[in-house]
Amino acid sequence: MANDDGFQIVSRGVRPRQHVRSGRKVCCDSGSVEIVSSVLRTREDLNMMQYAAQIEGLLEGVECEDLICYGIGLFGTCRIARLQLALLLHIASVKQVSKVLVYDPVLCPQEKAALRELHCVCIPENELCRRQVQTKTVFYMPHCGRAMYNNLIWANWSPEKLSQLALIGNSFQSYLDSPPPPSDPSDPEIITK
Ligand SMILES: C[S@@+](CC[C@H](N)C(=O)[O-])C[C@H]1O[C@@H](n2cnc3c(N)ncnc32)[C@H](O)[C@@H]1O
Repeated sequence: MANDDGFQIVSRGVRPRQHVRSGRKVCCDSGSVEIVSSVLRTREDLNMMQYAAQIEGLLEGVECEDLICYGIGLFGTCRIARLQLALLLHIASVKQVSKVLVYDPVLCPQEKAALRELHCVCIPENELCRRQVQTKTVFYMPHCGRAMYNNLIWANWSPEKLSQLALIGNSFQSYLDSPPPPSDPSDPEIITK
């Protein structure tokens, strides 16, 4: 629907194709082949955007042997998450990273299969974002909760480890400026020490 000025009006409607049981998504409708093609199409769109080039510029000089993504979200059904995944793949290609690891507890089997087809490795268990770096590692954590960033930084809290770690995520200032969100009992266990 467009308003009188021709702007697209965005309304909060029912989210498409998300199967939810007890507040948790169970599975998307698409098969992995379909998901892979839509990720690849999104990647082509991304190449046209200035955004991808900007990220490339920001990452210039950043060494990256491992690329780890936490919290990608439901990319089988959500376009934002799909764009984020397309950007992850773009970064992997620009930085010539051979090992891309991904974990999000909400991913369904088709999404995990799609990740494998896209040459990513699915981390098998919930690390609560506490992985300690062993080599030059870039973490990609788009729109993740503050506890996730907190856990990652806490787990690597030494000059030696922090010097090997780069993080692509949200502005910490915006977290500092906003009140902590109410705790959500459906969130996976993750938080402070
Ligand atoms: C706010 S959502 C962001 C999703 C998506 N990136 C987006 O921008 O729409 C945070 C994501 O973090 C995921 N998450 C929660 N705990 C996690 C954990 N321990 N490890 C990895 N991901 C986690 C959630 O399942 C959720 O998909």
